[in-house]
Amino acid sequence: SRLRVLVTRQLPDKFTASLRRQLQHLEIVTWPSATQPVERKFLLDEAAKIDGLLCLLTDRVDAEFLGRVDPARFRAVSTMSVGVDHIDVAACRAAGVRIGYTPGVLTEGTADLALALLLATARRLPAAVETVRQPGAWGPWCPFDRLCGRGIGGSTVGLVGFGRIGQAVARRLSGFRPGRIVYTGPRPKPELAGPLNAEYVKFEQLLAESDFVVICCPGTPDTRHLFNKEAFKLMRPDSILINVSRGTVVNQSDLHEALSSGGIGAAGLDVTDPEPLPSDSPLLSLPNCVVLPHIGSADVATREAMAQLAVDNLAAGLLGQKMPAELL
Ligand code: GLV
Ligand code: GLV
Repeated sequence: SRLRVLVTRQLPDKFTASLRRQLQHLEIVTWPSATQPVERKFLLDEAAKIDGLLCLLTDRVDAEFLGRVDPARFRAVSTMSVGVDHIDVAACRAAGVRIGYTPGVLTEGTADLALALLLATARRLPAAVETVRQPGAWGPWCPFDRLCGRGIGGSTVGLVGFGRIGQAVARRLSGFRPGRIVYTGPRPKPELAGPLNAEYVKFEQLLAESDFVVICCPGTPDTRHLFNKEAFKLMRPDSILINVSRGTVVNQSDLHEALSSGGIGAAGLDVTDPEPLPSDSPLLSLPNCVVLPHIGSADVATREAMAQLAVDNLAAGLLGQKMPAELL
């Protein structure tokens, strides 16, 4: 019988061709918009008619969706993301639905972006770019400390989360000669941390001692609002917070309060809650907050690797084979 899958993002033809090569008699339904995420109604209406789903982190795969699928038919969800916070993993397990995701292939790209955002925030690049564009704002006279920021050399950098991405950030950081790299997470990882000269500390100690705090943990119920009033109180008044994980890890109104009252120095966010961040968000009027539109994995080679892995996961899931990257 014919297999039918829903793909919620328009992918270059080579990826759908690859899916067709791996699955014979395949019908691919693609969400037609290249600018809007799949409509909930479209997703729910398709649910009963498909064997598998290739989705994005904007698409909720929850109990409602799983309640609409044909249990005799629907077998696999393949998300083009490393994060799975949009997927009800327990409900998928209960329904015998396998989950593929894309760890590994976006590690280096996301770590690159973490460093780019850290440097852009610390060295105030958005303000500097604005200065060049505004008539008269650039000199000829230059005040002693105009557009001065902070350097990484000699500083203490704290990594919240020391998984693949946290370790890749640590590898990059060493070239900037920080004084110390510390990390925190559910448990110490001495074999991985030793070669990177990274030292395990408790969360509170990391907050108190770090000049830069980089969030690279997954977004889970345990990490939700880990950064709240109490956490910001423990941070140094000049410290810089970078988030490349999930917006939900930070309580945004507490962050706004900390940034506008001198509680912390600056923040660089690649992720927010919600996304997109409304253009009237108070965070956007703060001079010490740099916000990016969730571009951690946005380099061409990374996106292609994610698409291929997502296709391979889906094909394996529908063939009843081992997925190259399955959430187990
Ligand atoms: C991006 O945020 C991802 O989870 O892949
Ligand atoms: C998550 O933290 C990852 O490194 O993939």
